[in-house]
Amino acid sequence: MLPLHLGLFGYLLWSLHGAHSFEPAGYSLETRYIEVPLDHLEWTDKVKTFNIKYLISHVYHVPGGPIFVYIGGKGNIENYAQNSGFIFDIAKSFGALIVFIEHRYYGESLPFGNDSFRPEYIRFLTTPNALSDFVFVIDHLKKEMYENVVALDTYPIVAFGGGYGGALAAWLRMKYPFSVIGAIASSVPIEYSSSVSSCECFYDVVTKTFERYGRDQCVKTIRLGWDVVINLSKSKMGMDFLSTKWKLCQRLTTAEDVEKLLGWMATIYVKLSLNNYHYPTNFFTSLPAYPVKVFCDKLTTSFFNDTKGLVEYFGQALEVYTNYSGKLACNEFEDTTDYVYNYQLCTELIMPKCSVDSDMFINSPWNYEQFAADCKKKYGVSNGNPDWILLGYGGKNVKYFSNIVLSSGQMDPYSCYGAKTNVSSSIWAFDIADGPHHIDLRNSDVSDNNYIINARRNHVSAIKSWLNIA
Ligand SMILES: *[C@@H]1O[C@H](CO)[C@@H](O)[C@H](O)[C@H]1NC(C)=O
Ligand SMILES: *[C@@H]1O[C@H](CO)[C@@H](O)[C@H](O)[C@H]1NC(C)=O
Ligand SMILES: *[C@@H]1O[C@H](CO)[C@@H](O)[C@H](O)[C@H]1NC(C)=O
Ligand SMILES: *[C@@H]1O[C@H](CO)[C@@H](O)[C@H](O)[C@H]1NC(C)=O
Ligand SMILES: *[C@@H]1O[C@H](CO)[C@@H](O)[C@H](O)[C@H]1NC(C)=O
Repeated sequence: MLPLHLGLFGYLLWSLHGAHSFEPAGYSLETRYIEVPLDHLEWTDKVKTFNIKYLISHVYHVPGGPIFVYIGGKGNIENYAQNSGFIFDIAKSFGALIVFIEHRYYGESLPFGNDSFRPEYIRFLTTPNALSDFVFVIDHLKKEMYENVVALDTYPIVAFGGGYGGALAAWLRMKYPFSVIGAIASSVPIEYSSSVSSCECFYDVVTKTFERYGRDQCVKTIRLGWDVVINLSKSKMGMDFLSTKWKLCQRLTTAEDVEKLLGWMATIYVKLSLNNYHYPTNFFTSLPAYPVKVFCDKLTTSFFNDTKGLVEYFGQALEVYTNYSGKLACNEFEDTTDYVYNYQLCTELIMPKCSVDSDMFINSPWNYEQFAADCKKKYGVSNGNPDWILLGYGGKNVKYFSNIVLSSGQMDPYSCYGAKTNVSSSIWAFDIADGPHHIDLRNSDVSDNNYIINARRNHVSAIKSWLNIA
């Protein structure tokens, strides 16, 4: 019987190696770093390298057992480890080694430290480079874990990922099928492309989540909110009032500030819906169970008879997302947290979004020229081929590949760009009714519904079939 925690022995071992550990949801993980080339296809004697961070847990591992590799997405890797309990839940029965690999340019895996985001340095942030990093780390793991243990021509290594990281897990299997035997890819917007077809879907799904989990008045009040902010912003007095009531870190002064504030509000609505889990979570930020419902309750059970009252209650409702911990001094409406990911959205990961009358957002058409101009202004990038990602990875057209599970939640706006039905006998796709963003990768919980339970069962049977386990 393997101990759940490595305990003192494990801790000492890590200390000796100078590594530190941390424990997501009670599981011990060791932090390691591995040197990778900055540009995997540079052939000079001055190849720059940097460290990719990865977390590893031997707790359930039996020699020769499979490796479950979580492919990091747009954030620091600890956050994914803390929110992917499914992998820990099933690792024991497989005797699997668990590894979480951080994506370059996120968390600590910064090629140029704090300078990494300068235009001359950020250009090494591409999906082919990121995939090469993962292949590189996996190859290292193969050598370390399987050498002298078993002779293998097909290594039992399974990739997992959610959202953008899920797309990478699927692409890893597609592009490097000798690297991983299969991929569990949850909430994957597999169809990245600049095509405007159904660009309204994303905000429509967000709106439906608010309609479903909020009170009737919620969507109406959110719509009213845009007008109130826009009206108030027409005068200095109004801008000052908003700045004070919403505890903004910088006072609103320009039309550009107001645009940013409106964008900040829209982002909060999207993030509330993405994180509308049925229990409290701490996935990049701490939130109550069903945050959409909590937000809407705050907004609609309050009585307000004028603009000032509305602004006040809106401020309190927004705090459900921004300040659930109660520790935030002021609101930074200029959102810089997604700076790196937005660079990727500008370059490779183009996802057309537009809002229309039927959703709760301010109407805005998808305008590629405007989008490209904004990207140029913000990052200095010009996109020579906005559809490169379709050429590179094929979009929804995954029928030529094998051993990929694509799951998506019906309440997840990323399902708009996902595959919904089985593609072939080895490419499975399915919907999780009521599911928010990659719920199936979270740990099992007594309050999970049958759709979530079935999705996880489905994942386990897929993995068993790949690993040839009865
Ligand atoms: C990078 O910035 C962070 C936060 O501003 C700081 O704590 C850290 O020391 C900096 N690292 C380097 C290598 O400059
Ligand atoms: C915003 O201003 C317009 C024009 O002054 C007015 O018709 C509208 O009722 C105002 N809306 C709100 C929500 O205050
Ligand atoms: C709005 O309600 C507040 C109390 O909640 C009251 O003091 C105020 O007079 C009301 N304003 C109007 C215009 O009815
Ligand atoms: C966050 O919550 C704390 C405690 O309620 C409060 O003192 C603080 O002003 C809030 N900050 C923001 C930005 O809302
Ligand atoms: C998809 O394929 C899996 C595995 O064969 C099967 O269990 C599932 O029922 C299929 N789903 C649909 C909708 O046909």
